[in-house]
Amino acid sequence: MMVSLLIRWVHFVAGIAWIGLLYYFNWVLAPFLKEADAATKRKVIQGLLPRALLWFRWSALLTVVAGGTLLGRVGLNTPLLIGASLGFFMLLNTWLVIWPHQQKVLRLYAESAARGTPLPAVLTLHERVVSAATRVNFYLSFPTLLFMGMSAHFPQF
Ligand code: HEM
Repeated sequence: MMVSLLIRWVHFVAGIAWIGLLYYFNWVLAPFLKEADAATKRKVIQGLLPRALLWFRWSALLTVVAGGTLLGRVGLNTPLLIGASLGFFMLLNTWLVIWPHQQKVLRLYAESAARGTPLPAVLTLHERVVSAATRVNFYLSFPTLLFMGMSAHFPQF
């Protein structure tokens, strides 16, 4: 009982950290970067983004590990099946699409700074993938949270 409560608590806190950063990326950072001048953009990408991405990807993993552990303890119902599938897809999107492409963006910025060369055109490709994948997770977070909430409160669905 107590163990389940602790795991549930870890699951919420990690989920808030993950989805909170996701909303920050979508609602705050991306629109800001769109308007920022090149020097500001570089400063934010190189100075702020690595830290934000560190918390983002590890809180995603912790959310799903805690969620999976909880699932093993409380059992499955329809809302959980749907919510957990969406959450698992979002985790894959975070680790296998967003993070590798963000790493490329960070590397391209670091290389151009070190060599004093302009940013290469391929950067746009990585930025577009990141932006599309981040938007997908943003939209998926709403049904995921709805089904997670239903799992304990409307399990008969
Ligand atoms: C693979 C991914 C996930 C799995 C396996 C999972 C699993 C679970 C389980 C087993 C519960 C407990 C249900 C109960 O008490 O009977 C739960 C609750 C919850 N989960 Fe997840 N979850 C996942 C992803 C997420 C994500 C991405 C979020 C979003 C932040 C989230 C937010 C919540 C919330 C808010 C609750 C509380 C529901 C309530 O008691 O009203 N979960 N989850």
